Parts: sequence; C-alpha cells; structure tokens
Amino acid sequence: MCIMHSLHSHIAFLLSIICGEIIGDIQPIPSVNVRIVGGEISDIRDIPYQVSLSYNRFHRCGAVIIDRSWCLTAAHCLLNKNELLEESLMVLKAGTNELYSKGIEHQISKMIVHPQYDSRSFDYDIALIKVMQPFNFTDKVNAVELPAQNWHPHSNTIATVSGWGKIKYSTKEISNVLRKVEVHILSPGVCNEKYPSFTPRMLCAGDLENDKGSCQGDSGGPLVSCGKLLGIVSWSVDCGMKEFPAGYTKVSKMRDWIRRETDI
Ligand SMILES: *[C@@H]1O[C@H](CO)[C@@H](O)[C@H](O)[C@H]1NC(C)=O
Repeated sequence: MCIMHSLHSHIAFLLSIICGEIIGDIQPIPSVNVRIVGGEISDIRDIPYQVSLSYNRFHRCGAVIIDRSWCLTAAHCLLNKNELLEESLMVLKAGTNELYSKGIEHQISKMIVHPQYDSRSFDYDIALIKVMQPFNFTDKVNAVELPAQNWHPHSNTIATVSGWGKIKYSTKEISNVLRKVEVHILSPGVCNEKYPSFTPRMLCAGDLENDKGSCQGDSGGPLVSCGKLLGIVSWSVDCGMKEFPAGYTKVSKMRDWIRRETDI
C-alpha cells in the first residue's frame, strides 16, 4: 500500500513536470534535423487531420480534425491551473508541415473540456474545440475517423503518433517540422501494472525495445491506427523511454460524449 502510494506520487510528480509547463519558454528551432522521439519526418498529406494549437503565438499542443467544424485535443491543453485559457489567444493551424511558416489559421469559437477531467490522474483528458470558420478539406486538411464506442484495439496493434513536440525530454526546443513514430498499443494489464493510476479511459503505447514515442508539445495530438483515431496524446514519464510507455486518452470511451456535444 505504502509502496503503491509512493510510486503513484512519484509518477504524478513526473507527470506534472511533463504535462504542466508546456508554454512560454519553448522556442522553435529552424533546423529540419529534429524529431518526435525516435521518429521520422512526416508529410501532412499522410496525416491531414493533424493541426497545431498555439496560445499567444507559441505552439502549445497538437489537435485533431474530426469534422469540418470540430477538433479534439487533450483537456490539459486548454487549461492553466484548472482555469480555461483565453479563447481569443488560441489559434489552430492546419495543412502545414512547418510550424512557423505556412498553414491555414483558424480562430476558435468554443471549447468544451470533459466535465470529468481530473488534473491529478489525467483521467478523461479530452476536450473539443470548435473553429469559427469551417475547415475546407483538401489533400492537406481532412478529418480522421472515430472508433465506435467501447471498441478496443488488439494488444500490440501498431499505431502512429505524430506532432511537433520535443525530440527528447532534456531539450527545450520543439520541432519545426511534423514528425511521426510507430508505437505498439499495450494490453490494459501491462499498463495497469506499470501505472497504479491507470484508468479504463486510457491507452498506453510505446516500444518495449527502442526509445520511441511522444514528448512535450505533442500533447493533444493523434494516435491513429488503420485510419481510426484510437488515442489523444495525454501524459508520459520522461519521453519515449522504452521502460515507460506513454498514456493516451482512449477515444472509443469518449465516442458517446463526442456525439452528445457535437452531433458527430
Ligand atoms: C473556404 O473556402 C471558401 C470558399 O472558397 C472561402 O470563402 C473560405 O474563406 C475558406 N475558408 C478557409 C478557412 O480558408
């Protein structure tokens, strides 16, 4: 009990470092030789549902297009110390590989954070964002498919996570170019064993042999397999370490909530 508790506190502490301070001091770097941990440079045409969410002109998180008017992201991306961020300072950028050059910018008209979001455990870490001007779908801007309510992927399913996040935990710079990496979805049993605070609203995914995965700045972005959005980047201990698979919000558990809020 005591050991469980202290392990939990330790993980919660690490999580708060990773998921807490995701704005402000992060600066873009102009090099193309940078990556999501262990990944490769991607093309937005392969991931046209990937968008960047910026706050006060700084990239803050990823987000995912699910419809002409709506995106999904992580709840923690829209909050600062449990206060909703200022809508007018947020911009979604679609249709670009490079964060700090091109892209189509969208103002935001509405944000809906899941009412059961728990900032301590990262349970229900999901939110909806409505854009003022609908997306015009092209080869670079498009919606991802959602899974059915309660659908569960087979363990070891390969999925792709993408974003402009940091290439390793110990750097300050995020990536200016979109990156992606393939990870394995692990069984709930394995995830529960690693993380005492793991819940049925989460997936954990990683690579048990190589250091691969998502990092700071990737939060809110997509984990996709066979064209379906299985997860939203939510939390990690350090970044992409093989010992610590990252946590994702399980989108299939949120399917009915999304329908209730958006009619999608
Ligand atoms: C989408 O296309 C319409 C018609 O061409 C245009 O008026 C509108 O500004 C476009 N929206 C965006 C976000 O580019």
